Amino acid sequence: MAMIAKQCPDIEVSVVDINADRIAAWNSDRLPVYEPGLDETVRQSRDRNLFFSTDVNEAIRRSTIIFISVNTPTKTFGVGAGRAANLEFVEKCARQIAAASIGPKIVVEKSTLPVRTAAAVKRILDTSGNGGSFAVLSNPEFLAEGTAIRDLLAPDRILIGGEETEAVQRLATIYGRWVPEERILTTNLWSSELSKLTANAFLAQRVSSMNAISVLCEATEADVDEVSQAVGTDSRIGSKFLKASVGFGGSCFQKDVLNLVYLCEHFGLPEVAAYWEQVVTMNNFQKRRFSKRIVETMFNTVSDKQIGIWGFAFKKDTNDTRESAAIYICRDLLSERARLKIYDPQVSEQQIREDLAAQFCGPDGKITDTGQALLDENVEVVDSCAAAAEQSHAIAVLTEWDEFQTVNLDRIVASMQRPAFLFDGRNVINRDAAVEKGFEFHGIGKP
Ligand code: UGA
Repeated sequence: MAMIAKQCPDIEVSVVDINADRIAAWNSDRLPVYEPGLDETVRQSRDRNLFFSTDVNEAIRRSTIIFISVNTPTKTFGVGAGRAANLEFVEKCARQIAAASIGPKIVVEKSTLPVRTAAAVKRILDTSGNGGSFAVLSNPEFLAEGTAIRDLLAPDRILIGGEETEAVQRLATIYGRWVPEERILTTNLWSSELSKLTANAFLAQRVSSMNAISVLCEATEADVDEVSQAVGTDSRIGSKFLKASVGFGGSCFQKDVLNLVYLCEHFGLPEVAAYWEQVVTMNNFQKRRFSKRIVETMFNTVSDKQIGIWGFAFKKDTNDTRESAAIYICRDLLSERARLKIYDPQVSEQQIREDLAAQFCGPDGKITDTGQALLDENVEVVDSCAAAAEQSHAIAVLTEWDEFQTVNLDRIVASMQRPAFLFDGRNVINRDAAVEKGFEFHGIGKP
């Protein structure tokens, strides 16, 4: 919405949320998300034609086009728990839009949704309204965190799905202010909804495919980065998203793949469901494998050993930790009674502690006494790579922050216990340099 406001100063954009703290943060000097270039983009239009408010009904009344952009997490209860998307928030939005609308509105699904959700949204709007009339469009978002502003400025494509040609055209005209016409694709509603899930499933599948090969590399002395480069130079395959890692994270990949799996099962297609589910199975295996390897390499015990964790976010250039591989690696190491010194340049201590606490909850949803003791006694959050390394038996690199590539390895290794283990879950540290400085180095898919 900040990008639309920036590109179209004549269009008034209201961002509304029922969470007053969040809206206050959007109106403050410290935005609630860290994203390169976002501060500047918001500041350019805020209070000019971009407004943040909690007055949802007023915004509905004033607007011609309404984007539903609420979260659609994986269901944790009832039918489809662990797989299907929870559409509670989308439905509540639709009901509120219906109740507050007077006159015609274009309602746009921006949230990632299962296929055929637009039809349900349209039914709710048409049946629970106050006489408003509604066109429903699907306009999924393809930006990635960390590069959001760049992706929004020059998207590979804008996808608009819908049956009502006039509404589709109105939305297309807005994007057309800065996106070339040939990059604005229009499809039917369901193709648009399914394209979003498919795009994420393909991206996640590429990472899982490379991670699968990384396991074989470790067994055969091939180097996964060399394999990835050789494979990626084939123009039919392409070089992006072939970086083996400790496992993909983020709020979307796992959720969307599982959502696709659930849809396939729902439509009675078990073979197709099993095919896609393997992408998530492989990712879970890769995360488990990494923590297991740390324990095995360190003489089969990390109990009372200190391990420096470099990076907690699910990727660099974001403070988002949702589904970050780091959460699961730290959980496994804590369960083995390791002492962790965690450093991330953007993630707050509170966030790290909340994420870890959630891993040690009992059936009542509260953290267990053992979990609390582990967190209190064995987790320290520090403010530099050097502090995380000091007196540690090992370092585990879990996010590919640029600063990890330029640290002074001489000083780091000198401050550690011997042997000084370095487990690079992102393949960002120069292996030869690390070995030369005296590290025992273990990369992903490296001989
Ligand atoms: C992803 C998609 O890339 C976006 O196109 C999509 O719009 C977004 O989900 C969404 O549905 O909202 P995002 O999750 O922000 O974006 O980040 P990615 O860059 O896709 O990275 C996801 C995970 O895969 C990260 O943990 C990253 O470290 C990992 N990854 C990525 C690898 O391990 N290897 C790679 O080669 C690429």
